[in-house]
Amino acid sequence: MNELDALPADFTWGVATASYQIEGAVAEDGRAPSIWDTFSHTPGKTAGGDTGDVACDHYHRVPEDIGLMKGLGVDAYRFSLAWPRIVPDGGGEVNKAGLDFYDRLVDGLLEAGIRPFATLYHWDLPQASQDRGGWPERTTAEHFARYAGIVVERLGDRVKDWATLNEPLCSSWIGHLEGTMAPGVRDLTAAVRTSYHLHLGHGLAVQAIRAASPDARVGIVNNLSPILPASDSDADRAAAVRADGHTNRWWLDPIHGRGYPQDMVEVYGVDLPVHEGDLETIAAPLDWLGLNYYFRQFVQDDPEGPAPFAKMADAPVADRPHTYMGWEVYSDGLEELLLRLSDEYGARRLYVTENGSAYQDTVRADGTVDDPERTRYLEDHLAAVARAAAKGAPVAGYFAWSLLDNFEWAYGYDKRFGLVHVDYGTQVRTVKSSGHRYAGIIRAARERA
Ligand code: NOJ
Repeated sequence: MNELDALPADFTWGVATASYQIEGAVAEDGRAPSIWDTFSHTPGKTAGGDTGDVACDHYHRVPEDIGLMKGLGVDAYRFSLAWPRIVPDGGGEVNKAGLDFYDRLVDGLLEAGIRPFATLYHWDLPQASQDRGGWPERTTAEHFARYAGIVVERLGDRVKDWATLNEPLCSSWIGHLEGTMAPGVRDLTAAVRTSYHLHLGHGLAVQAIRAASPDARVGIVNNLSPILPASDSDADRAAAVRADGHTNRWWLDPIHGRGYPQDMVEVYGVDLPVHEGDLETIAAPLDWLGLNYYFRQFVQDDPEGPAPFAKMADAPVADRPHTYMGWEVYSDGLEELLLRLSDEYGARRLYVTENGSAYQDTVRADGTVDDPERTRYLEDHLAAVARAAAKGAPVAGYFAWSLLDNFEWAYGYDKRFGLVHVDYGTQVRTVKSSGHRYAGIIRAARERA
């Protein structure tokens, strides 16, 4: 018996990317700047001063990239749409050329027999919206829902699977509290207001999507981590409860109609800008939940630090493998989180919307790229998904992060996550051995199904 046999017969095998990380063409066909253009062009914000100006030049290479996916044999492609291509100033005129680009992408995917999974917001907020106050302001949530409706009006006849937000945790805590991602703000009030308006924008967007496309299947993508105390001390254990609130419960409770976790409201001490009816809007029923999984976290008490007064500590276990991001490889965490979503939150349909690893890949003299560590990572994490499925988690699909090496945000191009290697000088794509292995796993699973 194969360890992946527990996966459902109609399991969706996919790959994922995001607009700013791959598209390039930042000033073409009416696209306006996003907060990531501004941030990456600000000296000192990204490794090596890297920007998404060209990235994988995907904007001009859609047929080739769809061909790569066809070669891998995937069922589905998770991509994101760039809001500043479609509504360049955030809340105003629609740029038809921006919609046309995604229209062509979707048609190309369908022709290749690949199901489009579209994410409406993967961090590239129009700079004009930021200039009006960004996510800390309610208007941004309203403009986001309007943009969502515009997109789904145009593509909803062909795209059925929609995610509102990707990893709102990062936009909130990393973008507005730690400040190491766009827009680079360090302010707890702004961060908490951002998280709230992202949720509100999500809820309003769900309404807009359903109004434009009644048979849409709508979800949200959260990045979650198992949290453990670094020691047995009461202080570290209490820190782990706070860190779990910060990383997991804050993102899950409100969308499940449980409101914001009261312990965390007290830890932050920031008033939530709630209007009547908002919490119901935020808890709009969803068709699926997306989980992005990368690592678990050990935390210790950090009374002098920023909220939630808990900081990451090294795994108290020697010799754990780590990726080139410095993230511990811990595949059991994926099983644990899928089971938590199904047991504690009653999830009825789950997708692993991202999972993957960065390593220092090089092209060998014979033109191949061999990445045994990524291959092993992929196999181990898929086995973890299958274990969760065997224990009852309703997991319907897996999207490898990423199809291509790409712009890894503040880390720039040095961190390669692709199943396909990209030579940024020539834009030559080379399927890595992990990509070939993924294709083989998919073929074998289909034959068994
Ligand atoms: C999650 C993000 O959604 C994606 O944009 C990023 O590249 C990966 N994690 C890897 O860090």
